[in-house]
Amino acid sequence: MDFKLKVWRQDSPEADGEWARYEVEDINSGASLLEMLDILNERLITEGERPIAFDYDCREGICGSCALTINSVPHGPRQVTSCQVFMREFEDGQEIVLEPFRATAFPVVQDLAIDRSAFDRVVEAGGYISVTSGPKPEPNANPVSPEIQQDAMDAAICIGCGACVAACPNGSAMLFTGAKSTHLNVLPQGEPERYDRTARMVEQMDAEGFGGCTNTGECEYVCPQEISIKVIGELYRDYRTSMIHRLRSRRGDMKAQ
Ligand code: SF4
Ligand code: FES
Repeated sequence: MDFKLKVWRQDSPEADGEWARYEVEDINSGASLLEMLDILNERLITEGERPIAFDYDCREGICGSCALTINSVPHGPRQVTSCQVFMREFEDGQEIVLEPFRATAFPVVQDLAIDRSAFDRVVEAGGYISVTSGPKPEPNANPVSPEIQQDAMDAAICIGCGACVAACPNGSAMLFTGAKSTHLNVLPQGEPERYDRTARMVEQMDAEGFGGCTNTGECEYVCPQEISIKVIGELYRDYRTSMIHRLRSRRGDMKAQ
């Protein structure tokens, strides 16, 4: 199969980017999109040109590293990770447009590679539980209903790819943050820090420059893990409760003075 490629090239975070056009020929229909880029990069290296930078790790749809906007849709139209897109999904001779995930909070590092460390800082702000060391409690000592287990697992499968942010017209990270807080908040192990955790993660999300949610739903549409937008409702609810807790504690302090 032959393809025309329009690819975003940007030398460094500070440089102005520009579109470059390439043609690739004789690509096996069973090749993945990333394998096609490998083939193109081998050619560019042979021709003395800098290869196209792009992120990946597992290439199995697990790690969330790969981040390509394919024909204007983060990860492409099939709701899978970029590494799971195959050349047979395109028409022979078709033009394919490849650009990085676009969001203020995800600066371009080079070409198609972006810096998603803002996500790490949101998780560092509260995406963990504090545990005391000592003998492990018997697992059944903390009964959890199958429904709650399912809710936690449905949120825990977020792989932190960032497509939700790139698809959102506001560059919002509410789906990601909602998934990362919900999977801890609904379980007994995450309950003690539930509201502090939520407030810290939301505050970090805002500090990183992610936008707010206006319920457009684009995030859910592109998420390769099918995270439900209902985690955003959970995030809103827990954040509101955390604000009430803060207000009450401030009032308590004022009364005590
Ligand atoms: S919520 Fe979905 S789209 Fe967003 S980071 Fe997690 S897996 Fe990726
Ligand atoms: S490279 Fe790991 S999910 Fe795509």
